Amino acid sequence: MTAPLLGISELAVGFSRDGRFARVIPGLSYEVRRGETLGIVGESGSGKSVHALALLGLLAAPPGRVLGGAALFDGEDLLALPESRLRALRGAKIGMIFQDAMAALNPVLTVGRQIAEPLIRHKAMTRRQAWDRAGDLLALVGIHDASRRLAQFPHEFSGGMRQRVMIAMAIACEPALLIADEPTTALDVTVQGQILDLMASLRERLGMTMVWITHDMGVVAGIADTVQVMYAGRIMERGPVEAVFRSPRSAYTWGLLQSLPHGARPPGGRLHQIPGQPPDMFNLPPGDPFAPRNRFATPRCLREAPPLRQAEGSVPGHLVAAWYDLPALLANAA
Ligand SMILES: Nc1ncnc2c1ncn2[C@@H]1O[C@H](COP(=O)(O)OP(=O)(O)OP(=O)(O)O)[C@@H](O)[C@H]1O
Ligand SMILES: [Mg+2]
Repeated sequence: MTAPLLGISELAVGFSRDGRFARVIPGLSYEVRRGETLGIVGESGSGKSVHALALLGLLAAPPGRVLGGAALFDGEDLLALPESRLRALRGAKIGMIFQDAMAALNPVLTVGRQIAEPLIRHKAMTRRQAWDRAGDLLALVGIHDASRRLAQFPHEFSGGMRQRVMIAMAIACEPALLIADEPTTALDVTVQGQILDLMASLRERLGMTMVWITHDMGVVAGIADTVQVMYAGRIMERGPVEAVFRSPRSAYTWGLLQSLPHGARPPGGRLHQIPGQPPDMFNLPPGDPFAPRNRFATPRCLREAPPLRQAEGSVPGHLVAAWYDLPALLANAA
């Protein structure tokens, strides 16, 4: 086995609010292999963005605070690096795409300058070389007429085209790792599909490792090798996409999968929503954080938090944190 490209262990993040403090990520550990695409999924507030920002040294502190842990990226602990080294890694070896392209792009600089700038900084290219490369990148992400478009400003691009510009910026230096935080949620389904196809082909061409954050199981199915389901800052389930989709072991994963728009849904039928609200991290109940919303919860779930461990009878690496046996419960309920 080759060493993972990213290995996070016991990452803990806290937040202060109104004089109170909450460990919103109590201790997160996972690995991403080279070339793997990990899809991280979970409802709003599950800690998807906070953990990614903490990794990259971008967490707003205060109110946030990294409380401990390590994040080995290619042999360096991101959580222990000086800001200057982190800044050099971001944009060069680690690319990032965020949900809001408009906020990430500088409105007063041309798109060409914004794509060229990291190439000049990290790849020691001349202005001319970087501009030419920026044109190639726009073409690569499917923007036609690249030489004219380079001289335009972000507001002259549609939402889908701006996302493509963001992707071009993120991949400009051919990062080893790309972290994408819900970059397609604001887009309509057709454009979203195009962007996902584009990412899949770029991954092939550049051999990138990806962490793709989303609240949409459909997106995970389309892009990821491994799925990691998060709730209340912890991993509820994780494993190869086929194994988890075929036989989910966490009632939370099962609930998220029920919300997929299956062909069998009656015309006009509503999508399933998991009843109840995501937990208030400043007022977390004891035990399994999903238990209050879980109709399969046992008394033990309400008392004691389950550890993440190998799912019985499934493939190696299919992990679940649950005290109950979901397949058996679903078979009985049928
Ligand atoms: N500025 C803040 N102040 C206090 N708590 C915060 C702040 N930002 C995030 N949190 C806490 O961190 C938790 C995780 O938030 P995070 O943004 O990572 O969720 P997420 O999974 O990315 O959700 P979404 O799908 O909405 O993007 C939240 O439940 C919240 O309790
Ligand atoms: Mg988020």
